[in-house]
Amino acid sequence: TVDPSLAPTPSQSSLNLQLLELKAKGRYGSVWKAQLPDQYVAVKIFPLQDKQSWMSEIDIYNLPHMKQENILHFIGSERREDTLNTELWLVTEFHEKGSLCDYLKANTVTWAQLCHIGQTMTRGLAYLHDEIPSPIHSQAKPAVAHRDFKSKNVLLKQDLTACIADFGLALKFEPGKGFNETHPQVGTRRYMAPEVLEGAICFNRDSFLRIDMYACGLVIWELMTRCTGDGPVKEYHLPFEAEVGLQPTLEEMQTLVVTQKVRPAINPSWEKHPGLSKLISTVEECWDQDAEARLSAGCVLERLGQLSRNVNS
Ligand code: ADE
Repeated sequence: TVDPSLAPTPSQSSLNLQLLELKAKGRYGSVWKAQLPDQYVAVKIFPLQDKQSWMSEIDIYNLPHMKQENILHFIGSERREDTLNTELWLVTEFHEKGSLCDYLKANTVTWAQLCHIGQTMTRGLAYLHDEIPSPIHSQAKPAVAHRDFKSKNVLLKQDLTACIADFGLALKFEPGKGFNETHPQVGTRRYMAPEVLEGAICFNRDSFLRIDMYACGLVIWELMTRCTGDGPVKEYHLPFEAEVGLQPTLEEMQTLVVTQKVRPAINPSWEKHPGLSKLISTVEECWDQDAEARLSAGCVLERLGQLSRNVNS
């Protein structure tokens, strides 16, 4: 007989998993819809070369207090080996609606839906950014910067509640621990803040959180472009797609965002909507060229709350 205390922990066990359907493929690997005996799950498969991002992502999910409704729920991980190939699997909850980016491609949103998605997304980001102190260090949640915030990394639950996914590049800031790594330009070019595009290197905790907020402004703008506040809505485009297309080079992004200080276009029709008109200043304060002038996630959350209470159309 086997001593149950020697059984592998869930995160190391061989999960009884069956891959069902390829959902997405990218630089990072692929995401599958899969079946556990009692639920659907998402499996992100990393090639062995990306072991570092698989391990970092698990490390972030395993921090204390990471089970929050606006953060994607982690289920387990494993190393799958056969004779030819090793794959690193990361298993999370599955959300049928997929990413906010995919959702906006296929759907428009009402003002109430914009408010709900926007609030739940910024609640997740504020939660990630905030430290939860504890007298026992091992139970404290450090502040975490996402570093690849974008509409593809926001997933939607059935009721359009948002949750944040993909922590492969995330950084935790443990109180009292020094911070002396060098941090190259990481993340998705399109969503890089001007200071990241410029190649600034001396970032501290607050600078990383402000970099996330720049990207958050772009994602709220994406929501606004698909909002049926009043009148017709144009088809979905990524931020800066109109300016640089689908595969911008780093240089093109630098010229646009750093040198020309261009930001996504504000549709004049938004001025006529009581809610959208007030949201304009909020997105502009998120993507300010001056990082220190940007709003925090908590502040954006509060503003969206006020707007959703005060504007019912
Ligand atoms: N795409 C990436 N991760 C996903 C998840 N957890 N559920 C659904 N679609 C996803």
